[in-house]
Amino acid sequence: MSSGWGEEAVKNRLEDLRKKIHYHNYRYYVLDEPEISDAEYDRLFQELEGLERKHPELVTPDSPTQRIGVKPLEEFGTYEHNIPMLSLNSVTTEDEVRDFDERVRRMLGNEEIEYVVEPKIDGLAMELIYENGIFAVGSTRGDGKTGENIAQNLRTIKTIPLRIFSDSDDGLPLLEVRGEVFIPVSKFKALNEELGKKGVKMFANPRNAAAGSVRQLDPRVTASRPLDFFAYGVGRVDGKEFSAQWEVLDYLQKIGFGVSPLIRRFTDIKDVFRYHDEMKEKRDDLDYEIDGIVVKVNSIAQQDTLGVISRSPRWALAYKFPAREEFTRVNDIRVQVGRTGALTPVAVLEPVQIAGVTVSRATLHNEDELRRKDVRIGDTVVVERAGDVIPEVVSVIKSKRTGVEKEFQMPDRCPVCGADVLKEGPIVRCIGVSCSAQLKERIKHFASLRALNVEGLGDKVIEQLVDRKMFLDAADLFFLTKRDLLRLERMGEKSAQNILAALEKSKHTTFARLLHALGIRHVGEHTASLLADNFEDMEALRNASYEDLINIPEIGPEVAKSILLFFELDETQELLEKLERAGVRYEKGEVRETEEAKKILGGKTFIFTGRISMPREDAKSIVVRLGGTVASSVSKRTDYVVVGEDPGSKLAKAEKLGVKVIDEKAFREMVKKC
Ligand code: IVH
Repeated sequence: MSSGWGEEAVKNRLEDLRKKIHYHNYRYYVLDEPEISDAEYDRLFQELEGLERKHPELVTPDSPTQRIGVKPLEEFGTYEHNIPMLSLNSVTTEDEVRDFDERVRRMLGNEEIEYVVEPKIDGLAMELIYENGIFAVGSTRGDGKTGENIAQNLRTIKTIPLRIFSDSDDGLPLLEVRGEVFIPVSKFKALNEELGKKGVKMFANPRNAAAGSVRQLDPRVTASRPLDFFAYGVGRVDGKEFSAQWEVLDYLQKIGFGVSPLIRRFTDIKDVFRYHDEMKEKRDDLDYEIDGIVVKVNSIAQQDTLGVISRSPRWALAYKFPAREEFTRVNDIRVQVGRTGALTPVAVLEPVQIAGVTVSRATLHNEDELRRKDVRIGDTVVVERAGDVIPEVVSVIKSKRTGVEKEFQMPDRCPVCGADVLKEGPIVRCIGVSCSAQLKERIKHFASLRALNVEGLGDKVIEQLVDRKMFLDAADLFFLTKRDLLRLERMGEKSAQNILAALEKSKHTTFARLLHALGIRHVGEHTASLLADNFEDMEALRNASYEDLINIPEIGPEVAKSILLFFELDETQELLEKLERAGVRYEKGEVRETEEAKKILGGKTFIFTGRISMPREDAKSIVVRLGGTVASSVSKRTDYVVVGEDPGSKLAKAEKLGVKVIDEKAFREMVKKC
């Protein structure tokens, strides 16, 4: 861009670029539907940055380049809310909701009522103040009257617009938007993993992670955390009137905020009950935590009539889901040895029901976490089970201690093979080269569904084979004979035959699957497929240099080093040769699967409900890999509903709509054909 431009022209171009970038941010982050490529977006952004560098006097606080301020704060200022931020009465039973409905109807003299129902996001309440359409202040709820001004941090969140879209050029004089800041579950897991590797304190749950991230004095730390925002209401608004909550949500969406796509309106309270059940089921499929639903009277005139009582509106209610946390006792602490030799302390619990599932073990992650939480044998603890995640001990109820609780010491040798252990950051690792625990886990991983997928080869079979010293490495699987298998406990002729057939079948695989199966450290399913996309075959990958590897987007130094190290080992060489001798052959990419699968699952939509024996994520990944899609609510467009134990309302809905219902066995049969 020539600097010979007049100031007006520069201003116009700056404004044009900011508008465009703001819009494309919205398409990308809020709607998840980008209209332009990343490269085009980068070009716009770079042009803006360049122009602002040349004209620093024209930089405005709402410019997309200004998300991250550089100066950490000493402390946050306070902010007094124009209108108090109320809290919600919360209930857990249908009877209490019925009472609420009756009171509302009584107070409104039997006027017609419509309810808006929304998921109750389990994050932190925030208020965002826009002056003339520009983000000016962002505050926590605090005590409802006064919060903290954490604008520096909130402006780093990509789904919080720095300016709103509006019809007029200067927006509204004042608009206060209220909503919830949260961290998506998938990103929370990745964040915790990263913190764990660094030996930094991990967060107990996504909500704590969001709380810890949003109150950082250094906005650069906040900017590095995957925070997100959903709007659900407004505070004071000057220059616009609303007559209903639904209208508020619709408006918020139009001006660039993310609003939950799961909001609905009902007139019958029975529909609210159904919605609650549906959301309860959907809960595990969502990438953000919800802990209930919020029921709001839609009409604002009616809301005003109902009013507020002791800091809670009489026109709204939180109808919560059953708790996912329970108290129980730690009967013992044991150590598990994983595939990479990591020693994980695990709490053996007095079995307890949490949201319908019996939990008898919970992870304590690593020694540092165990110390930080100070968990002792005999302690009463809070255990949390969230969705597919492994249950974990969240905290200890220290007031329940009687003095007989025993501290736990991490062993200084591997509890399985007796080899020395090595502490790498917070992780204690067994360095035994022939540790049977590691070998068992490596082989289980090798044969697992998302790796070589050897059907019918259960954990018990693998454990027995390793205990009988029949394996040195995973390739030995392919040299098993029927006689070997028949020597095992509870192994019949038929099962042995099936295992051999499954092994034979698994020899024909894809490069990505084989790479994943090898269990290279830091190479999970996703990285394995990246590698398979970038290298012709194993030989090419083995010859890759450090630079070749880190030049692949998403592959960092740690992963690259781990791959190089893996190929340097003699054991790797042996393993690869043995696999080749056994007849393991792979095709590049997912060619074989998609071509064949297209005929069977292509275009089909699946819904899962109830408990099935494989993790939901695995079931979903099979469907997706085979060309189908997985939806979360049943409609006429659903092709199959797969039901497990204790199916919920989705089954009834499927039956009502005449959608085909199959059980897990039938599902497994269906995907086996591929
Ligand atoms: S409305 C007067 N709607 O739940 C109404 N709150 O005590 C005030 N929350 O921490 C809130 N999702 O941040 C409302 N869809 C939703 C919500 C929601 C989550 C949180 C809110 C506050 C608590 C209510």
